[in-house]
Amino acid sequence: MEKVRLHDKNFRLFIRNEQIMKAIDEVAEKINADFKDCTDVPVLLCVLNGSILFTAELMKRIDFNIQLVSTKLSSYSGTSTTGEVRQTMGLTADVKGRRIIIVEDIVDTGHTIVDLEKILKERGASETMVCTMLYKPESYKMDVPLKYVAMEIPNDFIVGFGLDYDELGRNLNDIYILDQE
Ligand code: IMP
Ligand code: MG
Repeated sequence: MEKVRLHDKNFRLFIRNEQIMKAIDEVAEKINADFKDCTDVPVLLCVLNGSILFTAELMKRIDFNIQLVSTKLSSYSGTSTTGEVRQTMGLTADVKGRRIIIVEDIVDTGHTIVDLEKILKERGASETMVCTMLYKPESYKMDVPLKYVAMEIPNDFIVGFGLDYDELGRNLNDIYILDQE
């Protein structure tokens, strides 16, 4: 599909599934190299709902023992962030003393990961690192280092492969960008 319509907006094809898979291969390879011979069981934290497909593809490629934990946060309304992050579902397991790989669909302004890191520190995580499928460098305003980034994109609104526009578009296999005209 070259174009999709969701609610009142048109989107055009931006990143094909094959390219997404290649980027995930590369980021998984880096994580596997960094965690080679690790003796703990790091937590892979899926930030619902957006990172569900990315987490699934990433964990298939991870070759050391991990524990999958989820939480749900929301800050977006329509095509822009509200800046206020709400944890709408708590962590599904205790993370005290654990190293955590935060798996995000996209880092935009960075409010979400800043708030999430704070929550994880409060819960006693020993170390947190961010692994994001997409990163908008022009929009990011925070100092949290992004250890693993699969793809960088311009500051535009996108949907697909887990990402939504008012809950539609998450099931798209490719990533689409908002068509301005
Ligand atoms: P941040 O807190 O501004 O970094 O935004 C992070 C969250 O906003 C992501 O986890 C997404 O759920 C959502 N988001 C940011 N940019 C987009 C986009 O272009 N399309 C869809 N959702 C987005
Ligand atoms: Mg998200």
